[in-house]
Amino acid sequence: MKIGILTSGGDCPGINATIRGVCKTAINHYGMEVYGIHSGFRGLLDNDIVPLDESSLTGLLNLGGTILGTSREKPFKRKAGAVSENKPAIMLQTIRERGLDCIVCIGGNGTQKTAAKLAEAGVNVVSIPKTIDNDVWGTDVSFGFDSAVTIATDAIDRLHSTASAHQRVMVIEVMGHKAGWIALHSGMAGGGDIILLPEIPFDIHRIGDAIINRLKKGKPYSIVVVAEGIPTIGGKKAAQYIAEEIEYETGFETRETVLGYIQRGGSPTAYDRNLATRMGGHATELIAQGMFGRMVALKGNTIESVPLSEVAGKLKLVTEDHDLIVQGRRMGICFG
Ligand code: F6P
Repeated sequence: MKIGILTSGGDCPGINATIRGVCKTAINHYGMEVYGIHSGFRGLLDNDIVPLDESSLTGLLNLGGTILGTSREKPFKRKAGAVSENKPAIMLQTIRERGLDCIVCIGGNGTQKTAAKLAEAGVNVVSIPKTIDNDVWGTDVSFGFDSAVTIATDAIDRLHSTASAHQRVMVIEVMGHKAGWIALHSGMAGGGDIILLPEIPFDIHRIGDAIINRLKKGKPYSIVVVAEGIPTIGGKKAAQYIAEEIEYETGFETRETVLGYIQRGGSPTAYDRNLATRMGGHATELIAQGMFGRMVALKGNTIESVPLSEVAGKLKLVTEDHDLIVQGRRMGICFG
């Protein structure tokens, strides 16, 4: 059995740990051959594929990024006016020529969509969810999320002392275009006073009132955690928009911090290393059992799998009844 493995979309901590989990299980336990496909689906278009062995898998557990490289290539997306190039056919030819019996696709929502299309085209596919955003539908958690939340929480912790020293409002912007999971979890863990998510509409006047009320209660500084995807006016970035509005509404000195790609870089946490390893091992088990067209998923504390056709095109968003939102509201944290 020959399996090809690729990583696609934005990187996150834990990808190399899951590559290691897939490949070591495949080689040691099942005696399979493993091939690394470079730069996501582009590697299937360019026939950029190399064999992986034990020596290629050394030192991966705590290594950030991805040893296979990644891209945002979407081979099934047709570009209007582009010279027609049959990318799906090229990929199928590469897979046939290389004799790959199965492709393991590691990625976020875009990757799951492409993986589902590849499966529809007749390829044996198993996928693994990865994203710091934690917005892949069908799994309770994706690896990378815990690492990003840990980094963001540390950053929020550090803002408290400088906010207190200067008696300022500090606005911190964390990643999450459509889903506010990082803002919610790091905001709660870091003691944010106001947490703004793309999923929960807010009234900017209420945010100003919340800050003024805190001052009246003897709290001269505030920490505001915002997800990058909250709605803004005039194309402004989230932190800039909120900081300017707060200063205008309250007259309080307000500063902004954009955490950016620091959330995606570096070593995974111990939790992410183990989740990535378990998911990688489970992907290989699915292959061994001939269970294709499925995405590995964490349900409760168990690693299972869900049909790729059910995952593709859906997003896992924060809902108003999430226990952290309910608890946060009870404690007086403002969500808009
Ligand atoms: O990995 C997900 C994510 O981090 C989003 O939160 C962010 O908006 C996006 O990727 C940006 O990634 P890039 O600049 O690599 O496209």
